[in-house]
Formats: sequence, structure tokens, C-alpha cells
Amino acid sequence: MIEIHTAKEIQTITNTYQKEGKSIGFVPTMGFLHEGHMSLVKKARKDNDIVVMSIFVNPLQFGPGEDYEAYPRDIERDRKLAEEGGVDVLFTPAPEEMYKAESTVIASVKKRTDVLCGRSRQGHFDGVATVLTKLFNLASPTRVYFGMKDAQQVAVVDGLIDDFFMDIELVPVDTVREEDGIAKSSRNVYLTQSERKEATALYKALRHGARRVSEGERNPEVVKKEIRGILEKTSGVIDYAEIYSYPELKSLKTLSGKFIIAVAVKFSKARLIDNIIIEIPDDQKEDE
Ligand code: PAJ
Repeated sequence: MIEIHTAKEIQTITNTYQKEGKSIGFVPTMGFLHEGHMSLVKKARKDNDIVVMSIFVNPLQFGPGEDYEAYPRDIERDRKLAEEGGVDVLFTPAPEEMYKAESTVIASVKKRTDVLCGRSRQGHFDGVATVLTKLFNLASPTRVYFGMKDAQQVAVVDGLIDDFFMDIELVPVDTVREEDGIAKSSRNVYLTQSERKEATALYKALRHGARRVSEGERNPEVVKKEIRGILEKTSGVIDYAEIYSYPELKSLKTLSGKFIIAVAVKFSKARLIDNIIIEIPDDQKEDE
């Protein structure tokens, strides 16, 4: 594995790979790697000649008062995990490298952001789309790998690639969970012991919702109310418990087609998110 820090260097390297006709799988991350991140690497390793990973805690996607400074970092450990996972090129730029002077252009995401995390984290997805546009230009990926744990991010990246005619295949990867169901996240380290136990309520609530749908419930309000009921038993504060079409993220009067049940709960120091995507096959439409 080679590690590089500058835009110029990564561009030179990925241009060479491209000229050699090698496919490049790209896994963008903010580091503090866990099995969720590594499942993206594993998939990228399988599909491509070269695997590029970036580790960059992107200041532009953190709002004022969010955890940019406190975001967990451990580059030594990450380096080891990346190497063991089969990453060929690790890109670890400094903030000054990615945002040199005052920006001339930054991305503004127009759709799929007025709900869920986009609503609670104003400007967050503009920051994500901006950094990813830069990183995609640097890594010249054939395929990019994103976790469905951040399903709204996948929906935004899908729009970014499509709107800007990027010749990139977006590969969504299933959420990796702990044994008790909680989604693996770099932010889980912020949970107190008792919160860690309570946090299992997120996935329990989602599974309950999925079960109600499979039993035939088609009213989103009913499902949301029951999910809230489960989340309210924790000491956390519910940020949202919503259901939208996926990936468009539009409201639904009746549950049909492909949709997402998504929840976010604020514990004392960590805000946790989770979701489940459900698809009701067309032949069940008659039941609605
Ligand atoms: P980060 O939170 O580090 O996540 C990097 C990638 O790992 C994302 O695609 C995320 O969805 C995926 N991931 C995180 N937890 C996962 C889990 N439990 N199972 C499967 N995949 C998981 O998302 C970001 O960084 C940033 O917004 C970034 C895209 C790097 C832009 O700055």
C-alpha cells in the first residue's frame, strides 16, 4: 500500500492506472475505520484492479456546534486496517490541501435533502457533494462504494453522478451491524454504557416497522407512530422517525414501491442514525 497526501500525487497515480486500462474502486471515508468501512473495501477489492481509499474528515460537511474537532481519529490504526484490507492507495490529505484558498465553487444539493439528516444538518450534503466532487476528480474511479447506513448520502451521490454525467458506477453496500443489531459507526464510541444498551432500540424499531409492513400495514402514519413509541422508551431524543420513497425521498400517503424507514436519535454525546429499505413488489399493489 502506498500513502499519499497531495492532490497532484494522487492525480498522477490514478492517471497512470487509467492509461494502463486498470479499473479503480474508490472508498471515501472519514477514518476511524470499522467493519462497516472494511466491507466497502472488501467489495471494491473483489470488483476492481486497484482500490483507492481516502481518509479525510471533511470540515465542510460539519455544521457549527457539530463534532468536527471531536470527531474520532486514529490514523495509525486506520493505516494498518487499510493495508490488511487490501487497499492499494491510501489518500490522506490535510484540510489545506483539499480547501486551499477561498472556494470559487461549492456544490449546492437541490433535491433529496429537505428531509431526514439534510433537514437536521443544514448544509451537510452541500459539504458532502463538494468534497466528493473533488475526490472523484482526484481518484478517477470506475466504481465508488457507499454504505446504505447513510442511505440519504447514497441518494445524493446517485443524483450527483447522474446530474454531472460522471462516468462512475455507484455501488451501495449493506449496513454492517454489531451482534445485537446496532449499526457499526465511528460515533458509537461516544455512547455511555447504558446508552449503548438502549441504542439497540433503533434497529428494533426498524424491524418492527418492517414486520408491520409485511403483515399488510400500508399507512405510514401508523407505522411511524409505533416506531416512535419504541424509540421513546430510550433516554435519547428522537430527531426523526420517518418514511419516504427511495431514492427520491418524497412523502408517501400509502406505502408502496421502494421506500425507506429512517430514524435518528440523539443520545448525550452521539447522534445515531439507522434505516431499512423495503420494497413492496408490484403484484402486492392490489392489497393497498
Ligand atoms: P464515513 O462516515 O467515514 O463513512 C464512510 C463510508 O462507510 C460511507 O459510505 C458509509 O455509509 C460507510 N459506512 C459507515 N458505517 C457503515 C456500516 N455500519 N455498514 C456499512 N457501511 C458503513 O460517509 C462519510 O464518511 C463521509 O460523508 C464521506 C462520504 C467520506 C464524505 O466526506
